Amino acid sequence: KKLLIINGPNLNLLGKREPNIYGSLSFTDFLDELKDKYPEVEISHYQSNIEGEIIDKLHEAGFGTCDGIILNAAAYTHTSVGIGDAVAAIETPVVEVHISNTFDREGYRHISYVSPNAKGVIVGFGLQSYELAIQSF
Ligand code: DQA
Repeated sequence: KKLLIINGPNLNLLGKREPNIYGSLSFTDFLDELKDKYPEVEISHYQSNIEGEIIDKLHEAGFGTCDGIILNAAAYTHTSVGIGDAVAAIETPVVEVHISNTFDREGYRHISYVSPNAKGVIVGFGLQSYELAIQSF
């Protein structure tokens, strides 16, 4: 299986950013662990802080080049009609993930433009949210 993880804004700072919320492991270290644990899955990763680049990547991966997309659109989850529309537009199934439990946080994090068109949503399990998403495919 080929899966693509797309991470949105500020997730390049994982490990340094608010470690009380997001943990102290960098995403690249975590990704190495995931790849070791799931050698049968071809896992690739893309991160961007730019909304349009995330949309471009969804288009690129959305029509047959991979079996599934794991999307943490980070703050854009709660603001981006464009990313929500891109998820609706593509054919590849998208699983939405969040590290923190967004429902236990500020009210503006309770809405998601991604969820209505996602295959499923995994929220609040720390970095393990990504692993659960891999297992869902
Ligand atoms: C996040 C939750 C978002 O509300 C926040 O803006 C992020 C990360 C998470 O994975 O917990 O940047 O998507």
